[in-house]
Amino acid sequence: MYVQVNQTRIAYQDQGQGLPVIFIHGFPLVHAIWDLMVPFLVDGIRVIAPDLRGFGQSDAPEGVYSMRLMASDIAGLMDQLGLPQAVLVGHSMGGYITLAFADAFPQRLLGMGLVATRASADTVQQRKNRFSTADQVAEMGADVVAESMPPRMTKNRELQLALKAMIQQLNPVGLQGALKGMAEREDFVTSLPVMNTPAAVVVGDSDEFCKVEETREMAGLLPRGVLQVIPGVGHLPMLEAPQATAEALNTILIELKSIWN
Ligand code: MLT
Repeated sequence: MYVQVNQTRIAYQDQGQGLPVIFIHGFPLVHAIWDLMVPFLVDGIRVIAPDLRGFGQSDAPEGVYSMRLMASDIAGLMDQLGLPQAVLVGHSMGGYITLAFADAFPQRLLGMGLVATRASADTVQQRKNRFSTADQVAEMGADVVAESMPPRMTKNRELQLALKAMIQQLNPVGLQGALKGMAEREDFVTSLPVMNTPAAVVVGDSDEFCKVEETREMAGLLPRGVLQVIPGVGHLPMLEAPQATAEALNTILIELKSIWN
């Protein structure tokens, strides 16, 4: 299914009925990364999983995809679905977007899941690397990212190969838009103490992108943050340990379900 939001066609999946939960994928991924995990979620959940602008079946307009712009795409999707409020679960870049949403639309957020993500902005060096990757993608296409990212995301060889094949299909324009948007994203660390919704924070203990200590600090700064560290897992908890990831999210979903309606 598709909606038109901010002059962009956004594809999404919508299944089940009940508490609306929007699952936001990371970079350079698509909504299907949540598929393995969904069967382990509690009943009574409406699972809404968009492809972000630039990814999967969604349009890939030129330009910088700021985290605020993609948060506004999510708000627009909610408007079109007639949802005043929802729970947001974001993986990595999806978590940056979830935090931007929490900052911009706090009254629309029932709770959040932050999976393998962080609240801090990029360092100067990280920013430089992103812009140089964006330049390489402009020149050589999605293969640049398809080669470099999977081995950093997981040690699971089979999963690396599946990711590589998936990333090769992505639109280079979308990859560049998201890389530039992540490079320019704000730091939300000082805003965490006012993000007062239930928050499940999940990280793998072998995540190269998100260190357990920084994640622990983030969860500690969130007034209602609950941290779950998953052993033996890298940057893709929902694929590497789908049941444990769902169980961590279920803690807040059960609580929110009981007060929703
Ligand atoms: C992601 O998984 O969304 C990215 O690895 C995040 C990042 O590069 O900061």
